[in-house]
Amino acid sequence: MQVILLGLPGAGKGTQAAWIVEDFGLPHISTGDMFRAAAKGESQVSGEIRSYIEGGLLVPDELTIRIVRDRIAQDDAKEGFLLDGFPRTRPQAQALDNMLAEVGRPLSRVIYLEVGREELLRRLGGRWVCPGCGATYHAVFQPPRSAGVCNECGTALQQRADDRPDAVRVRLEQNWDNTQSLVAFYEARGVLTRLAGDQPIDRVRRAIRAALRGDGQ
Ligand code: AP5
Ligand code: MG
Repeated sequence: MQVILLGLPGAGKGTQAAWIVEDFGLPHISTGDMFRAAAKGESQVSGEIRSYIEGGLLVPDELTIRIVRDRIAQDDAKEGFLLDGFPRTRPQAQALDNMLAEVGRPLSRVIYLEVGREELLRRLGGRWVCPGCGATYHAVFQPPRSAGVCNECGTALQQRADDRPDAVRVRLEQNWDNTQSLVAFYEARGVLTRLAGDQPIDRVRRAIRAALRGDGQ
């Protein structure tokens, strides 16, 4: 199963990916997570990645495509994978087509989580993440049991550097046209499922499960 989760910043890709990878036994390939990990290093490339992320800018296609190509070649991705945040541009989508053609595997489904701008701003403004295990929360929509502390590992929660209002504005601008272009690209191929991502987390979860399994459970 080769699945893509497509959606603007804050659409709920990471939130839904967390259970999809468990239920379907797929590795979670999040380019955002990979870049945040790479940005912690001391090298010049780490510094460049950090400045793209913190400014809300897209990392150049060439580097992005290279890290995904390397990740997909690893053993745990041989039976399938869930892509979260990739592809994000047409050249990335074309590169993914080439990668899949090389290994003779089709794209199973692209799930597009459609959410309006106001709701995205509410979500990104209230998001808290765990630097320990990566769990995601929201101050109102998905609060942790104890304020400011991760349910899973007890680490103090943080806000992401790119959730500052100025970076959020750039992220939404950078991704808007690209996302519409990818929606058209995959819709024309008949692999796109468009879901209302502005419903409560559980309802989005049920809709995704129905789309991937066809049983509505
Ligand atoms: P990335 O980490 O992928 O960020 P993003 O695409 O901007 O998406 P987010 O992670 O912000 O949102 P999400 O859809 O995962 O939402 P979440 O589930 O957390 O990328 C970061 C950066 O890396 C990019 O800006 C770029 O610099 C670089 N990069 C990454 N991939 C790249 C690529 N392919 N090419 C080039 N550069 C790349 O949910 C958000 C909040 O809402 C949470 O608080 C959550 O609790 C809440 N929430 C979720 N669902 C719901 C719901 N249904 N109802 C209410 N609240 C909800
Ligand atoms: Mg995410």
